[in-house]
Amino acid sequence: MCGIVGYVGKRPAAELLLESLRKLEYRGYDSAGLAIHTGTGLTIAKEAGRIAVLSQLIDTQKHEGSVGIAHTRWATHGAPTRMNAHPHTDSSNTLALVHNGIIENYLTLKTWLLGQGISCVSDTDTEVVSQLAGLLWDGDMLSTMRKVISKLQGSFALAMLHEDKPDEIIVARKDSPLVIGVGLEEMFIASDITALLSQTRTFKLLEDNQIARVTSNSVEIFSSDGIPATVDPMVIDWNAEAAEKGGFDHFMLKEMMEQPKVVRDTIRPRIAGDKGSIVLDGLILDKTILQGMNKIFITACGTAYHAGMVAKYLFEHLAGIPVEVEFASEFRYRNPLVDSHTLVIVISQSGETADTLAALREAKRLGAHVLGIVNTVGSSIAREADDVIYTWAGPEIAVASTKAYIAQLSVIHLLAVHLATLRGTMEKQEIRQYLGELEKIPAKIDTILEQRHVVQQLAIRFAHGSDIFFIGRGFDYNIALEGSLKLKEISYIHSEAYAAGELKHGTIALIEEGTFVAALCTQSAMIDKMISNIKEVKARGAQVLGITCERFPQISQVADMTLYLPDTPDALVPILAVVPLQLFAYYCAIERGCDVDKPRNLAKSVTVE
Ligand code: AGP
Repeated sequence: MCGIVGYVGKRPAAELLLESLRKLEYRGYDSAGLAIHTGTGLTIAKEAGRIAVLSQLIDTQKHEGSVGIAHTRWATHGAPTRMNAHPHTDSSNTLALVHNGIIENYLTLKTWLLGQGISCVSDTDTEVVSQLAGLLWDGDMLSTMRKVISKLQGSFALAMLHEDKPDEIIVARKDSPLVIGVGLEEMFIASDITALLSQTRTFKLLEDNQIARVTSNSVEIFSSDGIPATVDPMVIDWNAEAAEKGGFDHFMLKEMMEQPKVVRDTIRPRIAGDKGSIVLDGLILDKTILQGMNKIFITACGTAYHAGMVAKYLFEHLAGIPVEVEFASEFRYRNPLVDSHTLVIVISQSGETADTLAALREAKRLGAHVLGIVNTVGSSIAREADDVIYTWAGPEIAVASTKAYIAQLSVIHLLAVHLATLRGTMEKQEIRQYLGELEKIPAKIDTILEQRHVVQQLAIRFAHGSDIFFIGRGFDYNIALEGSLKLKEISYIHSEAYAAGELKHGTIALIEEGTFVAALCTQSAMIDKMISNIKEVKARGAQVLGITCERFPQISQVADMTLYLPDTPDALVPILAVVPLQLFAYYCAIERGCDVDKPRNLAKSVTVE
């Protein structure tokens, strides 16, 4: 996690770095710092707390210069204190270094440094890198960095300044993202593109094991062996406003409100003119490859994993292909039964999640064809997968994923139809009908969002309870999991999602007078079963909110309160049903005074194990 930015040019660096750093606060926000080259030496400011605290500190100090690096931290090694904040230096303060990732062999290196008479002052893994750089300094940024990274195990994106090099930043990456923004007589570096969108649209995306020497006029890229490498510039068409709040109180609300557009943007260009098929440009995956496949394995983390669960039900139902879904953190260490006859699908908003990336690499090592469903263009997963389908959600800033999830579901529907077409399991007429209904989804999401104040009233009523249960069957269970995760992560209310039929095997013991249960009842074949499950929890004192479709009015006869979704075919309901749950979590968090966009202990992009 953690966010890195850097600038080398003619403008005053400090304010510019802070502005870019604020856009990376979603990557971590427990302490922050910067280092500026004044032309004659380095000045450093760092502090525990958010970037606003660093900004206040900078206002009271002099940090003049037009070359600098900065960092926002999500603590892994050592508490979020001033001492542990980046940048870190060597013992004689000749260089400053920021890091994102984890140095796995830092204890060995720390002991070795001690043997050389160098003791670290912080608890971090990063300081061993800056101390090592000081010890190995040979007067040249590139060769010093090469020597340093040859001793590191783990993941890193590094940026370093040295007092003897007033117009240079040296950067290096391995398993942590780093981009270089190209300007006119100025260059920028950052952990991701969104931090720099207000400065430039032209980027060079550093590959793993590459080092770059960045000056105001040049970007020289080398392999870790020092061999010059070419990285073509990439022009990004996301606009800067997409990464701003645009009048909403929180990014999360803005991003939920964008969902109709996100679905439209993701599906429209991919539905063929006659609506009878899907156009997924550039995919290697075709009928021949698919005929050789006997299984699909989906792997991802968190919300993206929940999207994978919906995919399992859909792919099996529409395309008749067996699907397994597994957390990437389990998949990577489990020796899964994957081979060249398996299609592995990895799903990730950021494209940088460490576990998902490692699962992708493991799948490739085992010979599988890997398809990535990714939101961030040019991210590691997008680059390493054999095939990529992008979700066109635009930058997602709030830690709680909403619009990226909806976009993932949209792609999954397209892919399900595509697989069904290739496998001949759906008739043309059926496909037309399905895609026609999919195209109506954005307007239906709009209808739900317009009624958000109804959800807000419910949230006000239940936000101060201690436990909330979400139950459902089939697709509704998948959505219950996502609704429960959303609530936990931003409102800190304890919550569980349960397959409704499983409740009576243990968890129903937790239901008592007044317990709040949200019951998802949207699947035609399951309505009667859900009515029985609602009755079971009500008999133990639960207050039940039924979430159902207009065509099931009978739910309001058993639930205490009922939210109705616009009617839509069963398989498409998950895209609608998740929206009130996202809104419920959001309004509960507001009611409890939580920091919605930056919940405690979390970071947007989990680039560490
Ligand atoms: C969702 O609200 C989360 N913050 C989290 O579960 C997230 O979905 C997960 O970390 C995976 O991230 P990715 O999609 O960027 O890989």
